[in-house]
Amino acid sequence: MNRLKKSLSKILAVTAVACMAASCAGGSEKKSPETAWVEEALAYCDTQVRRTLAELKGPDGQTDYTMMPRNIADSLTTWHCRKVSETEWCGGFWPGILWYDYEYTQDTLIRREAERFMASLEFLSRQAPYDHDLGFLMFCSYGNAYRLTGNSHYKEVILNTAHRYTELFNPRVGALLSWPRHVKDYGGHNVIMDNMINLEMLFWASKNGGRPELYDVAVAHADKTMNHHFRPDYTSYHVAVYDTLTGAFLRGCTHQGLTDDSMWARGQAWAIYGFTVVWRETQDSKYLDFVQRVADVYIERLPADGIPYWDFSDPSIPDAPRDASAACVVAGALLELSASLPAAKAATYRQAALRMLRSLSSAAYQCGRAKPAFLLHSTGHHPAGSEIDASIIYADYYYIEALLRLRRLLQAEQQGAAR
Ligand code: GLY
Repeated sequence: MNRLKKSLSKILAVTAVACMAASCAGGSEKKSPETAWVEEALAYCDTQVRRTLAELKGPDGQTDYTMMPRNIADSLTTWHCRKVSETEWCGGFWPGILWYDYEYTQDTLIRREAERFMASLEFLSRQAPYDHDLGFLMFCSYGNAYRLTGNSHYKEVILNTAHRYTELFNPRVGALLSWPRHVKDYGGHNVIMDNMINLEMLFWASKNGGRPELYDVAVAHADKTMNHHFRPDYTSYHVAVYDTLTGAFLRGCTHQGLTDDSMWARGQAWAIYGFTVVWRETQDSKYLDFVQRVADVYIERLPADGIPYWDFSDPSIPDAPRDASAACVVAGALLELSASLPAAKAATYRQAALRMLRSLSSAAYQCGRAKPAFLLHSTGHHPAGSEIDASIIYADYYYIEALLRLRRLLQAEQQGAAR
């Protein structure tokens, strides 16, 4: 009986959302308000992509495809670009944005630009990993490229990268090493929460012709992180340090957060997104239970517009800078998670994601005509005084990803309602 009640309430909730999506206007094809603003936001992203492409052309009309947009400081109006290199962790986001824009527009001009920018990253697949960011670099770019084109060369690049990436895995610790260059500074095997994002490439590779151990490495890393990288209230450390020889957890601390004990917004966002992927790839319900706890503590402490302050413990809140990038990362994850949950929890996560995306799509967070990026108000590395209240390329990447995810959900619901 209970099960029946549960299924009925799930069906009713799904139908209600589907009806909203289709407007239930006597079967007419009228766009729901949600569909309308998502389409508007995606069209806006496309406009900004074209403005950026125009800006990246030099005075001679030539583009240097090794220079990737990275940020626009609050006081400036044009992109600061960085040259592709193993030490520049953000090089894959701009090609990734171009692939997402191609997915939306199907414009072959955008696709050609995506291919050209992305090609400058390929050398990274052939060398020893500089650090864990290889996943951000190569999966946001080549991962989307392969998904959209099926080009076997792109697949080969991802597989090569994934295999090289496991050189960072220490079996005694049971985790990948995030920053080889900082082992001495931290006094052991350091793992940062951001590393969770890069497991997706390993899961993907293990299912697409890569060595099966890639899956085991990803799961071991996720388990180690789940067991040690969180405090009892499910807020996370940015950095966990382990004994290199025994694997024992030595301490949790921060690099980009306010203090060792604070909840750094983007760190928690990486955790929510990362464990959502681990749940998707393993279908082990322990990760689904866990990620909800990690998401709930984040959602409970958000300000009204759903966009976090850069660190939840900053004493200058409400005057502290926001981090729109964290909101973009979390919105996409919550949309994905909501599909796996019972109706009431699914609705909570979906409403939270919509609140975030609606705020991000408002004049308070969009650059509009003022700058060619999508979004304002992200914070990169506050303790270092870098990229504070700026437009940052990864915010744009996760924003367009979340919008496309929402659009797919709405379309599926609309088709379901029309059947
Ligand atoms: N991976 C570095 C950051 O989130 O800023």
